[in-house]
Amino acid sequence: MSQRIYQALVSGNTKLAVVGLGYVGLPVAIEFSKYVQVIGFDTDTRHINAYRNGVDLTSSVGEAIQSATIEFTSDPAKLREAQFVIVAVPTPTTEDRSPDFTALMQASQTVGENLAPGAIVVFESTVYPGITEELCAPIIEQASGLKCGTQWKIGYSPERINPGDPVHTFSTIRKIVSGMDGESAEEIQKVYDIAVKAGTHLVSSIRTAEAVKVMENSQRDVNIAFMNECSKICDRGRINAHEVFTAMKTKWNALDFEPGLVGGHCIGEDSYYLLEYAKKIGCGTPILSHGRHTNEVMASYVAHRAVKEMLAVRKDLKRAKVLVWGITFKENCSDIRNSKVADLIAQLRTYQIDPIVTDEWADPETVREMYSIELTPFEKLPPADCIIVAVGHREYQSIAMEQLLKMYKNDLQNDEKILLDIKSIYPLEALTASGLRFWRL
Ligand SMILES: NC(=O)c1ccc[n+]([C@@H]2O[C@H](COP(=O)([O-])OP(=O)(O)OC[C@H]3O[C@@H](n4cnc5c(N)ncnc54)[C@H](O)[C@@H]3O)[C@@H](O)[C@H]2O)c1
Repeated sequence: MSQRIYQALVSGNTKLAVVGLGYVGLPVAIEFSKYVQVIGFDTDTRHINAYRNGVDLTSSVGEAIQSATIEFTSDPAKLREAQFVIVAVPTPTTEDRSPDFTALMQASQTVGENLAPGAIVVFESTVYPGITEELCAPIIEQASGLKCGTQWKIGYSPERINPGDPVHTFSTIRKIVSGMDGESAEEIQKVYDIAVKAGTHLVSSIRTAEAVKVMENSQRDVNIAFMNECSKICDRGRINAHEVFTAMKTKWNALDFEPGLVGGHCIGEDSYYLLEYAKKIGCGTPILSHGRHTNEVMASYVAHRAVKEMLAVRKDLKRAKVLVWGITFKENCSDIRNSKVADLIAQLRTYQIDPIVTDEWADPETVREMYSIELTPFEKLPPADCIIVAVGHREYQSIAMEQLLKMYKNDLQNDEKILLDIKSIYPLEALTASGLRFWRL
């Protein structure tokens, strides 16, 4: 086998291009740039300008961006200099929860129009089986006039990074790789092995690699849904769910899942891709469909619970100060896409509650644009009737109980001070001793 592109990359005779520099593409580009020449291409000039100025808009690579040698560009013609192209553009869902391939198709067109003969194109965007070869490859073929398989090759390598997690990163997570044939598979594996310290796992086909991604995330979705269901059962049965889950984990084969709001760009979306694929091939999905629905309605369940707690101590919903801590889809991360906290806030508003939302991780302008929500800086939050800790950011975890109690209105008894600790960031003993009226998922 030739390993022609691998050899050219490590000897500096060709470049690697990353198309789409967001939460996935930027870390990929940064990591590869430690070993080979990298072109970072994005259609969003705001991103490109920020990266050129050493500003990491995704908060995922930190200061590494300041010393990175990446050639950041919005000029698609630059892609002609690369023999290895990685595509990491968004694959969200539409409003009716169908897969949205718009960015993927546009990126395929751009890559095709600027494809170097002999190149390998690897898609990292999450898709369901068949999309890389049946949707992307024909677009690239047509735009380039080059035949796939003989004049260029294609592969797929799903991204598994975990935003906000400094341990599980691009180079420390084992990478699934695949190619359209033996030669491309070997070359793709060799190239990823340059930057992925945890190593690669080669699968036999692109469709297999595509299936791995949507199935591993759907597996999480279903398991979290079950924990949400158990949490509701415990709540109705007046059993402490958290204590049950902690005790369950003492068994050797327990699964480590927690209840919660499932949002974001991955777990909350990828199940819809698998559902679409199963529908296309006529396969039933009772477990996945029900699990997804269970998770989809959790925000309204929590909102309803907050209202119940407030009415129980005769709060005036219209006048009550309800603070929501956190709006990002998960802790220690700036990503607000598909935030279920936004759904929670929308639900609270249907009860005429006007929640005051804070999140130092999120960009206020993006929150305003995406959800029409104004963020309030943490230090400017008014004294509360009810605090909903929706996201377990590390800053919230470090707030002592004494300090937390001071964040409520002065004239309230402790049992009128309501706390909804959705992520269970406060220990049960501390909550019980505080006298707060609290509820956890
Ligand atoms: N964010 C995650 O944690 C994560 C984890 C695993 C997999 N994924 C998958 O990886 C893919 C990328 O996700 P992301 O979170 O990085 O998205 P993102 O929105 O953060 O970044 C995508 C980038 O692509 C750019 N872009 C859009 N259209 C483009 C085009 N036609 N040409 C060039 N650039 C274009 C955007 O400007 C943006 O900078 C998605 O398929 C996602 O499902 C994401």
